Amino acid sequence: MTAPTPLIAGNWKMNGSLAAIAEARAVSAGVGGGKARVALCPPATLIPAMSTALTGSAVLVGAQDCHWEASGAFTGDIAAEMLAEAGAALVILGHSERRAVYDETDELVARKAVAALRAGLEPIICVGETLEQRKAGDALDVVTAQVRGSLPRELERRPYSVAYEPVWAIGTGLTPTTAEIEEVHAAIRAVLVDRFGADEGAATPILYGGSVKPSNAQEILHAAEVGGALVGGASLKAADFLGIIGGL
Ligand code: PGA
Repeated sequence: MTAPTPLIAGNWKMNGSLAAIAEARAVSAGVGGGKARVALCPPATLIPAMSTALTGSAVLVGAQDCHWEASGAFTGDIAAEMLAEAGAALVILGHSERRAVYDETDELVARKAVAALRAGLEPIICVGETLEQRKAGDALDVVTAQVRGSLPRELERRPYSVAYEPVWAIGTGLTPTTAEIEEVHAAIRAVLVDRFGADEGAATPILYGGSVKPSNAQEILHAAEVGGALVGGASLKAADFLGIIGGL
């Protein structure tokens, strides 16, 4: 059984302007070796310019969310098909900020994943416990329930990844211990194997996200069952993001 190719994805969140495309170019110029697949997920408005700037590059462009319908009366929303047409190849779904701020449920995330697949986008499906849940000893139960609820069966034989992002580690500088990361990743792997079978369940990269930076990337990326990283703040500067990719 071959280990999945790692994926290191940068999530720019609601940051960046056209001037920041220079950072994407610098990432592209600095990526070498090809140990990992690399993606940048800028705000949707920057997807066309970034995908044009990265034509012929190994760096993929992704989106940060999509709607579950292909079109319709959904003011302010963007369909997966529109993101694909704009140049996105991947889409982050169920990020904890969307779960917390916009009340996104597992069921909604699963519907969005189906829409992403319909449009040919590769979903990165995020899960993770809050600090209260971890303190209460519920982290594994919370995360495995999110994985079960957020992954539609349509993912069978399709490329996607799961990102474990403890809510308390996002943007805080705090990270779980390697043992804590490995414990959660093993639990996620068990759900994937249970759902999709031994071979396919083992082929999905499980990313870690939450305060990944150049100084901790190497240790995190070499932890058992860690198949890459979802990087927020440190993906905004090419030098930092390349430092993380270099940790592999
Ligand atoms: P962070 O964010 O790297 O800034 O902690 C991670 C994320 O939200 O994906």
